[in-house]
Amino acid sequence: MASRRTILITGASSGIGAAIAARYAAPGIHLSLWGRDNARLADVAARAQASGASVSVTALDLADAARVVGLLEAEDDARPIDVAILAAGRGGTRAAGEVTEDPMEVMRVAAVNFAAPVAMASALAGRMAARGAGRIALIGSAAAFFPLPQAPAYSASKAGLAMFADALRLSVARHGVAVTLVSPGFIDTPMSQGLGRARPFLVSADRAAVLVMAAVERRAAHAIFPRPFALLPLLSWATPAWLRNRLLARL
Ligand SMILES: NC(=O)c1ccc[n+]([C@@H]2O[C@H](COP(=O)([O-])OP(=O)(O)OC[C@H]3O[C@@H](n4cnc5c(N)ncnc54)[C@H](OP(=O)(O)O)[C@@H]3O)[C@@H](O)[C@H]2O)c1
Repeated sequence: MASRRTILITGASSGIGAAIAARYAAPGIHLSLWGRDNARLADVAARAQASGASVSVTALDLADAARVVGLLEAEDDARPIDVAILAAGRGGTRAAGEVTEDPMEVMRVAAVNFAAPVAMASALAGRMAARGAGRIALIGSAAAFFPLPQAPAYSASKAGLAMFADALRLSVARHGVAVTLVSPGFIDTPMSQGLGRARPFLVSADRAAVLVMAAVERRAAHAIFPRPFALLPLLSWATPAWLRNRLLARL
């Protein structure tokens, strides 16, 4: 029997992660689906199995740092991971009427959006480098390009993740490991549906899944979508700080 390709997806119980799982699901693929909500994970798993994939599920809170890396290493020991798509994330803006964010919420955003994916990617990249092959995708956000006053922890967690992705890519590229940073704009998932504001150039979760997978398969360093958002890094660099700050303060 031909060997199976093993793909780990965090955030697989919803939104982009669930859409990526559905797209990858096929005979010859093993999907390791991580999330928190057991019922939604089981639903995604059942649909993937119906498409011919074999599936394992892991329900855990990524803020539980002590468990995350141990579980990941045990999974990789049992079935070496070929592709890891670290999509889990926690949205968040400061509460209405508040000047700053709740400190405990800031801790959770930092743990789920930064500490967990960074620890997982570090652990996996080392193992993949030893095997001489592997692909890791980190789902960041276009929010990383600007310091968003209504979501300092979220934009900072994604900016940190972006810097980490660039540094990790440089350290493991010569060992056959590709690290892809994905910086999406608005995607139609429960996270952005909860924003209660306009979502310009909105893309569907399925379209986002196709774009993430294409970036992983071509070993892209950085994928930014939808297209107009690709201008944001340039805008961020070219806009004078006084003008950028004045515009951001109005958000
Ligand atoms: N939607 C957008 O417009 C947008 C834009 C830019 C970037 N992104 C990024 O895209 C990624 C996917 O988000 P989405 O839009 O698909 O949102 P979503 O539908 O809300 O899904 C978020 C996923 O992350 C998981 N998750 C959250 N906190 C977790 C925790 N503590 N432990 C384990 N898993 C946890 C959720 O699991 P449960 O549901 O099981 O709790 C869910 O599977 C995130 O990294 C997000 O920051 C989204």
